[in-house]
Amino acid sequence: MATTIAVLSQKGGTGKTTIVRTVAEIMRRIDLPTLAIDLDPQGNLSDYFDVPPDAAPTIAEVLGGAATIAEAIQEPAEVVPANLSLAEAELALAGKIGRELTLRRALAKAPERYSLILIDCPPALGLLTVNALAAADYALISAEAQYFALQGVEQALAVIELAAENLQPDLALLGILLNIADMRTVHSREALAGLRERFGESVFETVIRASIAYAESAERATPILEHRPDLAADYIALARELLTRVGLVEHARRLSKLDAA
Ligand SMILES: Nc1ncnc2c1ncn2[C@@H]1O[C@H](COP(=O)(O)OP(=O)(O)OP(=O)(O)O)[C@@H](O)[C@H]1O
Ligand SMILES: [Mg+2]
Repeated sequence: MATTIAVLSQKGGTGKTTIVRTVAEIMRRIDLPTLAIDLDPQGNLSDYFDVPPDAAPTIAEVLGGAATIAEAIQEPAEVVPANLSLAEAELALAGKIGRELTLRRALAKAPERYSLILIDCPPALGLLTVNALAAADYALISAEAQYFALQGVEQALAVIELAAENLQPDLALLGILLNIADMRTVHSREALAGLRERFGESVFETVIRASIAYAESAERATPILEHRPDLAADYIALARELLTRVGLVEHARRLSKLDAA
């Protein structure tokens, strides 16, 4: 069974999609078969992977029961795409019995070759994010270094707790990531201190630095590892912490070959 991680945040633009895109890329480079799932009607993850906008079937058909996960995987990106039709699928889902467990059921039949599944959630703590949490072993919260970061994290944690109590008792918090941070500013330093004070060890040691290079690399559909290898050090450090926390220690060691590169 694959280890499944849902990447979420209470608000938009905290770098969720960039996390899924970049971590998936790193995992593949250390030969850890990884599937990325776009669970956002904006379809940004699909764009970041350069999947054509009309690619089908998408995660919407999977949730609607018209396609399996295996059928919806786009090669070679190994992403299950999404587009605006997912907004409609979410509405349709809302009226169904077992609506929170639909993705979980679909992922139970994911191809066995994957060791890791990363789910990119939309910027809301609604039914799609709840489906991601119910299908996940771990939740990763992305928090932008902003005022109110703390409240956003509290809200995401509350939803994780509800999902764990009602839908997926084995769901665990993987960690809270301070993202898009400029540690030269008081602002970002305070955000980090606040998170550490409140959530302790749950906060990843790694902080992802802010850089315009991420927007450039998204635009070109080139992973940051190629676009700016110097910045990629942040994500390699995150990948190391992530793999260690999920118990894939041997794979964490393999990351040293990327450090060297
Ligand atoms: N470390 C970073 N530094 C600067 N900009 C970043 C960084 N990471 C991501 N970005 C940029 O911030 C914007 C939002 O990132 P991203 O799409 O990953 O966030 P998101 O949380 O998925 O957004 P949404 O909530 O809309 O889905 C994008 O333009 C992206 O390129
Ligand atoms: Mg996104």
